[in-house]
Amino acid sequence: MTASILVTGGTGTLGRHVIPLLLEAGHKPRVLSRTAHASGDGVEYVTGDLLTGEGIDAAVDGIETVLHLAGDAKGDDKSTRALLTAASAAGVRHIVYISVVAADKVPLGYFKVKLAAERMVAESGLPWTTLRAAQFHEFAFTVIGKMAKLPVLPIPGVMRLQPVDSREVAARMVELTLGEPAGQVPDMVGPTVYTLTEAARGYLQAVGKRRPIMPVPMPGKAGRVYRDGENLTTEGATVGERTWEAFLAERAV
Ligand SMILES: NC(=O)c1ccc[n+]([C@@H]2O[C@H](COP(=O)([O-])OP(=O)(O)OC[C@H]3O[C@@H](n4cnc5c(N)ncnc54)[C@H](OP(=O)(O)O)[C@@H]3O)[C@@H](O)[C@H]2O)c1
Repeated sequence: MTASILVTGGTGTLGRHVIPLLLEAGHKPRVLSRTAHASGDGVEYVTGDLLTGEGIDAAVDGIETVLHLAGDAKGDDKSTRALLTAASAAGVRHIVYISVVAADKVPLGYFKVKLAAERMVAESGLPWTTLRAAQFHEFAFTVIGKMAKLPVLPIPGVMRLQPVDSREVAARMVELTLGEPAGQVPDMVGPTVYTLTEAARGYLQAVGKRRPIMPVPMPGKAGRVYRDGENLTTEGATVGERTWEAFLAERAV
């Protein structure tokens, strides 16, 4: 069977959970990566770079649905534009995009870029579906882990988060990919809202580290957004089941 689904970011944290689910559903996905991988076991790898444009036309050739998960901290708008241009020319019928909760609220670079990419998808002329997800457990683990390398953890006291399981987000993305274009669907968040201090304490306990936590202020517009909880989705969201504690228990052994 020729691939009809292209997954960008299929080698990343989220994408690695998506690929087996697509295979289970009877699809043989094509995966775009900047690094060469051997194709096999039902997965076709193609090499390309959404930021340079290399390999994108070949990646979308013959594809019906693009599941766009590729992302980095800064270039999502540029890479999404290049992907959409190639996908439109190739006659793609559905683009499915992963964004971040509060993309339209948090005035920080990553969120602004995700919002710009969301708008490009919605205005591309292609039938589309976009899901905003909260921070994955892995992301919170990495960020807090970096802070825990310091002798004292500087934690913005106003920050709250509702981390979500990337496997559950992957299952939702696959459901959306195999469904009809649905536009902007309800956000996906984890089951619990934590202060960053609570999340950091859970981390320290799970990895067996002792560190004092030093509350630091978060000034400006971003501070206000976090203080008011505008970065959270507490109503109407799709809520995952796996908690931060369950993730930590598995991850920190
Ligand atoms: N992490 C979170 O907490 C979170 C929360 C909400 C939404 N999201 C969004 O979910 C998506 C996936 O996040 P993740 O944490 O799974 O990411 P990740 O683990 O950092 O993986 C990034 C993926 O993007 C691909 N990629 C990066 N730059 C590329 C480029 N120029 N051309 C082609 N591929 C490129 C990488 O592929 P290669 O390295 O193989 O080229 C890799 O597969 C991102 O769009 C992110 O913004 C993440």
